[in-house]
Amino acid sequence: MAVKDILLPYFDLLLAQLEQGNAKLELAFGRHVHWGYWPQAPQGVVSPEDFSQAAENLTREVYDAAGIENGQRILDVGCGFGGTIASLNENFSGVELIGLNIDTRQLVRAQEKIKACSGNLICFTKGNACWLPFPDQSFDVVLAVECIFHFPQRRQFFEEAFRILKPGGRLALSDFVPRAFLLPLTALSMKWPFSRGFFGRCNLQCTLAQYKSLAENTGFKPRVEKDITKNTLPTYSFLRAMGEELKIKDPSAKFETWIVEWASRLRLLRYLVLSFERIK
Ligand SMILES: C[S@@+](CC[C@H](N)C(=O)[O-])C[C@H]1O[C@@H](n2cnc3c(N)ncnc32)[C@H](O)[C@@H]1O
Repeated sequence: MAVKDILLPYFDLLLAQLEQGNAKLELAFGRHVHWGYWPQAPQGVVSPEDFSQAAENLTREVYDAAGIENGQRILDVGCGFGGTIASLNENFSGVELIGLNIDTRQLVRAQEKIKACSGNLICFTKGNACWLPFPDQSFDVVLAVECIFHFPQRRQFFEEAFRILKPGGRLALSDFVPRAFLLPLTALSMKWPFSRGFFGRCNLQCTLAQYKSLAENTGFKPRVEKDITKNTLPTYSFLRAMGEELKIKDPSAKFETWIVEWASRLRLLRYLVLSFERIK
């Protein structure tokens, strides 16, 4: 699948703004591109610095769910600008870190920004999450931070993660997970013209029960299940402010964010951190 088929207008905007030296955007989204985790609701207006800390927190929530240890071989699928790889590099030693993304432009930036330290090895590679270009049983951990909804198929990604993980290896991810009765609405979001919106094609169609059966059917047992919806809510005011400042023209940017915000506030859509262990 070529990048032109992926269509992620939000990354086109980010890359253009970062290229132009937008300092606020660099702080907020130059490392991680996700919703963030707020341990407490912030007081007053959220700054780009606050947001960047929240983004770092979310990454740690996901990799902590995998129980990472020094010396492991870790794949970060849909690695964005490499923020999770950067954080692992700063916090662990003797790890081999591989970031995989379908978009070369993001990989180029990650490669430029992140230098290995503490005896770690880092490599970025182009690829599709559903066809992982790695041998069987070659990783201890596979991570997918807030990206699985873009992949062509969750099941195929789980099968690929199972194949490349060693027995006992872990898969950890974060995702927007709907209650079953929200499925007709999230199905609509995948139909034209909604599938061509600011956030590209997003499949928010996997309920928690479906995740559990998906894991069971692909050889995993559940490990961690954490509902962090309330810890993501302060992000919306920041996204609105950034949207105004950047004068984003695409009406779907506002509309899609508004739908996700209200579905989350009403707990119809939950933001979950999930991890699974490959059964031997
Ligand atoms: C919301 S961003 C998250 C980026 C990163 N995980 C982070 O937390 O900063 C979604 C990422 O998924 C990547 N992506 C989308 N479809 C993909 C696919 N089929 N295979 C690999 N990466 C993909 C996008 O290019 C983008 O980097």
